[in-house]
Amino acid sequence: ISLKPYNTFGIDVKAKTFLEINTIDDLKTALNKFPKEKLFILGGGSNMLLTKDIDALVLHINIKGIEVISENDTHVTIQAHAGENWHEFVLWCLKNNFGGIENLSLIPGNVGTAPIQNIGAYGVELKDVFVSCNAIEIATQKMVTFSKSDCNFGYRESVFKQNAKGKYIITSVCFSLTKSKHNLHTGYGAITAQLEKMDVKKPTISHVSKAVIAIRESKLPNPKEIGNSGSFFKNPIITKPHFNTLQNNFPNVPFYKISENEIKIPAGWLIEQSGFKGKTFGNYGVHKKQALVLVNYGNANGKDILHLARLIQKTVKRIFNIDIETEVNII
Ligand code: EPU
Repeated sequence: ISLKPYNTFGIDVKAKTFLEINTIDDLKTALNKFPKEKLFILGGGSNMLLTKDIDALVLHINIKGIEVISENDTHVTIQAHAGENWHEFVLWCLKNNFGGIENLSLIPGNVGTAPIQNIGAYGVELKDVFVSCNAIEIATQKMVTFSKSDCNFGYRESVFKQNAKGKYIITSVCFSLTKSKHNLHTGYGAITAQLEKMDVKKPTISHVSKAVIAIRESKLPNPKEIGNSGSFFKNPIITKPHFNTLQNNFPNVPFYKISENEIKIPAGWLIEQSGFKGKTFGNYGVHKKQALVLVNYGNANGKDILHLARLIQKTVKRIFNIDIETEVNII
């Protein structure tokens, strides 16, 4: 079958076999039935660039359900299953006045894949509200629980991209959210400005969500209209001496200090300065409003987009002597 409807980049490649997984039992049955088969785990398909047909059994994780696990006066622990759409989960939390993930509004993808890259935006990361996740170990079919420390979260990083890569399928995630006295994160420049624009003086979690949605809609292409996978590259982190040299040559370089010796540079700036912002190559290119996002204007080939990504990496390396890594998984 064609995977085009299952990846937000809208790349038309075929899967050898495809199974819809609606329950944990479905998952166990599939693993039992095809013990030797190479697996390809597909969630929301929002963080991958498919460059060839998938010669594997594709398991589309569609396990649904959101439940309150426990609560006290101030906090609630929610379990959401892997197949829940991330943004719909955010909206469900807002409707119930549960705070903590409003800054993560409108991020494409599903709950089950959110921990893999520790999704983050506007000053909040998944790890800030994460309690644990449940997963099935593919080799043994045993259910295991990963605590927050087990997950080894970092900037767009987790154990699921490291030691646990390819070994587990996440089935549900538990979050600790606030019921009252919400801890708002409105310090990110763009949010402050957007709330002012909306004339909001005392923001609620809903206001923050609306502000984030407005910012994202103004900069990031909607995958339903233009194929894309959000940020294609990670923002590189460089050392202080490297940064000093960079700043000497490019006094306007924007940056965020991470620690005494680590400085994060927006890859979008590096790509824009390299001349790629808004560049179109037939049916694909670099987004007009955010250089970090590569786009498929329709029927583009994954290999062509990958080729463009490599050209961008090479050019940024030549001009700035900085390596930018892909954030998106290349398959
Ligand atoms: N910039 C440019 N040109 C561009 C884009 C950005 O010069 O075309 C510079 C500007 O100086 C701007 C700065 O980069 O002030 C930061 O831009 P922005 O606020 O758009 O954020 P970002 O660093 O480009 C990161 C995340 C986004 C997340 C935003 C907001 C990564 C790889 N990306 O982007 O995440 O939404 O911050 O927190 O960390 C994603 O992961 O898919 C994603 C969209």
